[in-house]
Amino acid sequence: MDAIVLLRSAYLGAAGLVLFVFAVPALRLRFLDYGPRSTGTEKKYDTRVEKQGVSEGAVGTLLDKLAELRVPHSWFTSFYAVSVTLSLFWAAELLVGGPSFQAIAQHVPSTDLSMSFSQVLVVWIMMLGQGSRRLYECMAISKPSESRMWFGHWALGILFYILTSVAVWIEGIPAIRNHTPSTQDFLIQGPSARTFISILIFLLASGFQHDCHAYLASLKESKKPDGGAATSHYRLPEHPAFSISLTPHYFAECLIYLSLAIAATPKGGLMNWTLVTALVFVMANLGVTAYGTGQWYERKFGSDAVKGKARMIPLVF
Ligand SMILES: NC(=O)c1ccc[n+]([C@@H]2O[C@H](COP(=O)([O-])OP(=O)(O)OC[C@H]3O[C@@H](n4cnc5c(N)ncnc54)[C@H](OP(=O)(O)O)[C@@H]3O)[C@@H](O)[C@H]2O)c1
Repeated sequence: MDAIVLLRSAYLGAAGLVLFVFAVPALRLRFLDYGPRSTGTEKKYDTRVEKQGVSEGAVGTLLDKLAELRVPHSWFTSFYAVSVTLSLFWAAELLVGGPSFQAIAQHVPSTDLSMSFSQVLVVWIMMLGQGSRRLYECMAISKPSESRMWFGHWALGILFYILTSVAVWIEGIPAIRNHTPSTQDFLIQGPSARTFISILIFLLASGFQHDCHAYLASLKESKKPDGGAATSHYRLPEHPAFSISLTPHYFAECLIYLSLAIAATPKGGLMNWTLVTALVFVMANLGVTAYGTGQWYERKFGSDAVKGKARMIPLVF
């Protein structure tokens, strides 16, 4: 079996699953909302399901039981701990041609279309940078959280970072196999236009996303205008980034994975299609959450709060 085809199918299958859950109200209302969108309402999905006229019964009771399997939103930290750990693990495997690398490489047919070794290095550094920054933000910037997410959402997130730790190099296997480590690997050469543009998008999107996360964390420190303690953790974001999109941090995430897909394009190829399928999953996953975010802001702050703002991608969605 071709490991690249398997990887792409896993991303597209996961994206399809997320969209399916989104399309079925009885599933969407129970399983999709997480974080601030579901705070303090472990049972809110019940009443919202009833309002939508979805029939309950034995299946509904079973779904309710499943929906109760929720874990803290703060478990997001584990995504990035897994991501960073696997980046380091694969670096060692790739350098010495270790058994895990060989196990995957033997399931990838030989092809002339390969990333260069320096591309593998650059994209690996980008992924390590993304995982490390997010780990730092989760541990040092995020404010304590009481919100929760469905267990399946967390499991899908872990799967995504496991797959992506492989996706960043799998289309470079021919170059990795032919490469002999030397001091030349550490020489900095002028990047190609494609590499330069992708790194630029990556750095700008990462900085933008970091600012959004720091701003969201600062909202929880807000006091009431009279100086008293805030009664709710959540505020309507007023930062300029949130005036064009309700979820600019999700938009930035899409740009980050787009930049990886561009930087990892095999020589002679158009894009790195494995990372494009990862991007499809990210867009589907964040798109449905952005949709829920729009509904949550409208419920909580009124329709004026969302008027004229994109849910995720400015001018598009
Ligand atoms: N690659 C992927 O597939 C993927 C999937 C999911 C997320 N992500 C990325 O992970 C990052 C975090 O995503 P997320 O879904 O956890 O974001 P989120 O739901 O917007 O929450 C981010 C943080 O901001 C807080 N927050 C959100 N809205 C707030 C408001 N109005 N007022 C005060 N605090 C608010 C949340 O508080 P609480 O902790 O109290 O909820 C949480 O600590 C994003 O950059 C996203 O792109 C990536």
